[in-house]
Amino acid sequence: MRDLTPDPSTLDPEERAPREQLLDLQLTRLRETVAHAYDNVPFYRRSLGDAGIHPEDIRSLEDLRHLPFTEKEQLRRNYPLGMLAVPRSQLRRIHASSGTTGKPTVVAYTGRDLDTWSSLVARSIRAAGGRPGDLVHVAYGYGLFTGGLGAHYGAERLGCTVVPASGGMTERQVTLLRDLQADVIMLTPSYMLVILDEFERLGIDPRESNLKVGIFGAEPWTEEMRREIEERADMHAVDIYGLSEVMGPGVAQECVETKDGLTLWEDHFLPEVVDPVSGHPLPDGEVGELVLTTLTKEAMPLLRYRTRDLTRLLPGTARPMRRMERIRGRSDDMIILRGVNLFPSQVEELILRVPGLSPHFLCVLSRPERLDEMTVRVEARPEAASAERRERMGGELSERLKQALGVTVGTDVIEPGLLERSLGKAKRVLDLRPHPPAG
Ligand code: DLL
Repeated sequence: MRDLTPDPSTLDPEERAPREQLLDLQLTRLRETVAHAYDNVPFYRRSLGDAGIHPEDIRSLEDLRHLPFTEKEQLRRNYPLGMLAVPRSQLRRIHASSGTTGKPTVVAYTGRDLDTWSSLVARSIRAAGGRPGDLVHVAYGYGLFTGGLGAHYGAERLGCTVVPASGGMTERQVTLLRDLQADVIMLTPSYMLVILDEFERLGIDPRESNLKVGIFGAEPWTEEMRREIEERADMHAVDIYGLSEVMGPGVAQECVETKDGLTLWEDHFLPEVVDPVSGHPLPDGEVGELVLTTLTKEAMPLLRYRTRDLTRLLPGTARPMRRMERIRGRSDDMIILRGVNLFPSQVEELILRVPGLSPHFLCVLSRPERLDEMTVRVEARPEAASAERRERMGGELSERLKQALGVTVGTDVIEPGLLERSLGKAKRVLDLRPHPPAG
């Protein structure tokens, strides 16, 4: 694979700024954001007032921890546009997060917010190894989801040519990737697997394509999955993070030269990691829930937003800004199986260590008697699909799961192609338990 380290002279000045300078900028922007939220959003005037805080009280970055958290539920209660800090006429776009139940969460942008977003995605693509003039194939979904349009305008901002493919029609994705010779592809890692399978089904070696880097996010994935994609497609695979409430993709990006977690664009977002139960801030290096404060958002500033994503903060490497470790999962997606906490990403990691098992899997939860059970349903790779081989791989996977997780998990290794494919975020859990859960 080619060395794609960007020339330092092409980076944004903020990306290279020494930490002291960054901290000064953060404090200035934090004070502006708190004042903006307090002055213009009734919800924040009330919640800051209840906490006995006036914007003038913010004198250092440490004062951040005195601010109350903002929870997803509070955004829901202010549906659709109760959190706006600007008049509606100043909005230039609205997106919404899917939301598994009921109403979506609506998010809004001013022209300046869209400009910031594009420049941060442009910065992210460059950090991933993209360059002006590259052809960028965007297969994140377009529409209310922030993935498609977020990637699109960022790539244009960097000076790339965009193919707005969106998700779906997988055979056509392969045709476009081949015929237009894309350099960069942006999509969920699970949909990348579907596209790689399609290449192979059509008898085309994905390694022969022109792709040099894939920028994958919107769902958890693992080092094992990175290896799988990099080997099958002979390209770099890097991680991009974001969430609609805070902006969309481009809150943090893994740098291609280090591939050691995601650099948080700290000039626009102030990260903290807190204990998910007590809410107490944790020191850098400890795993907990990521909490983000926006520093430049106009339409919908967010103070200490609880993302529910679990990670830890690490010192900068490729850039002076801090990194976060790849997201392990969301606290809401955690499976609690007979008292043991686990994430689908841990299952993915173990599956990909068993030769012959494919990365297409589903964790099926059931309660046949009184106790919860989990069966990992996973497809064999085509070359390892005989009944006897599947049986053996199932045994090996069960053993690895038991060893790593300390709990007995059933396995069901099925023939290739039987699980439903996702065009966006993969569904990794099928919960067949009667609700509400026992106990
Ligand atoms: O998924 C925005 C996005 C689009 C990010 C494209 C990256 C690429 P939402 O639909 O609001 O926004 O979902 C946000 O997805 O809180 C995480 O739980 C998860 N997520 C996003 N990126 C990653 C990642 C978009 N790189 C939620 N690794 C977040 C793990 C991720 N989880």
